[in-house]
Amino acid sequence: MRITVPQPDTPDIDLASIDFFDPNWYATGDPHPVWAQMRRDAPVHRQVLPDGREFRSVTRYQDVRAVLRDHTRFTSERGTLLSILGGTDPAGGKMMAASDPPVHTALRTPMAKVLSARELRSGTPRIRRIVQRMLAPLLDGEPWDLAAAGAEFPIMFTGGLMGLPESDWPRLTRLTTMAIAPEDPDFRDGDGALAAAHHELFAYFSAQVRGRRQDPGDDLLGFLVRMRADGRALRHDELVYNCYSLLLGANVTTPHAVAATVLACVENPDEYRRWTADRSMTPTAVEEGLRWASPANHFMRYAVADTKLSGEPIAAGEAVVAWLGSANRDDRVFAEPYRFDLSRNPNQHVAFGYGPHYCIGAPLARIALRLLFDEITAAVEEFEIAGPIEHLASTFTAGIKRLPVRAKLFPDAERLLDRARSEDGPIPV
Ligand code: HEM
Repeated sequence: MRITVPQPDTPDIDLASIDFFDPNWYATGDPHPVWAQMRRDAPVHRQVLPDGREFRSVTRYQDVRAVLRDHTRFTSERGTLLSILGGTDPAGGKMMAASDPPVHTALRTPMAKVLSARELRSGTPRIRRIVQRMLAPLLDGEPWDLAAAGAEFPIMFTGGLMGLPESDWPRLTRLTTMAIAPEDPDFRDGDGALAAAHHELFAYFSAQVRGRRQDPGDDLLGFLVRMRADGRALRHDELVYNCYSLLLGANVTTPHAVAATVLACVENPDEYRRWTADRSMTPTAVEEGLRWASPANHFMRYAVADTKLSGEPIAAGEAVVAWLGSANRDDRVFAEPYRFDLSRNPNQHVAFGYGPHYCIGAPLARIALRLLFDEITAAVEEFEIAGPIEHLASTFTAGIKRLPVRAKLFPDAERLLDRARSEDGPIPV
């Protein structure tokens, strides 16, 4: 999705002409000015599809948080992605992301412990090696597609953590993108890409889980197989759905935080210079990159009972889509929301969501992004764009799929990144 700064003299847009359900709009359209107008004039927008299905869109920060926060008003069990609007989610009540308390709490409590920053700390040196290897091609000084490289990044740490064989990573990366961008020409793979991707991913995790029942091992998948939720082991389908959700959650979001942050640094060179001059800024800079990128574009809920948002009635059963990228530009909460400010503080963005479903992978994503940008800001003095940028056609992921860059390196960058070049074998666990 293009990340733009709406201009004050932009004429009003006819909101009825915008199809928020169309993935291509997020590849070729310009959502930010539309969301700005909606926050001002139509905070609880309704769209009816030609087949009669309908959904509300909320764009203000407070409404977005209200929708995500309270499962007694808005349930996750009927599915949380706009692409499956109106259907029943077969993962409802089984997959953490598509369940409400108490099932959600039972699944989440043990998983959150192993994914906490404290538990992950010992894996930091390995993630730094992954980062160095990913950045090694920068040394050649040739144009390098940062979006393509970024797409491979999360599975290097999540796949490793889960114990998935490295030879499977490229296929899994492609399948997870197909699952959220089945209409993108680069991921369509014929008709029915979504069903095909789901089928292959579920079959894959089903086989993985079966293998682990014999020999659980000490990785995340082994942990899930041994885990007890409210005193009972997870059923096979619960294991498969939650493995899928963990990998999807990591793969289809993290790369776009990287690409959008680098692109914003190219567009705001003074900010990037400030960052390289003071690398202790990395934690706040990463948060600003997350706010700016808002890689998870939306999450959906269904109203449990009649309720109100921004004073507007919502009827029981209505689908409500919370647009995170819009909430993260709401000037009721963020001073100068369209300024890319790497030391922004406070920065209460909702890029990782809010409330009970707040991203369980946030500690891992933060570690990985901080290490990545720690190496980037040590090595790269300046990025320049080296070719056309292309955006992903997806309602769910605000994504960049091509970002060719050329890097001007600091004089000692070679020394920093060179270690990675000699390590060509599998990434040591
Ligand atoms: C920059 C990276 C990431 C972003 C922007 C992101 C965003 C989000 C958001 C907005 C939610 C809330 C969903 C909701 O309210 O329904 C969420 C939940 C979730 N994320 Fe992430 N995520 C990221 C990285 C990860 C990683 C690395 C993992 C895997 C380790 C992961 C796995 C999950 C899972 C399993 C959930 C469901 C949690 C629950 O329902 O309690 N995410 N993520």
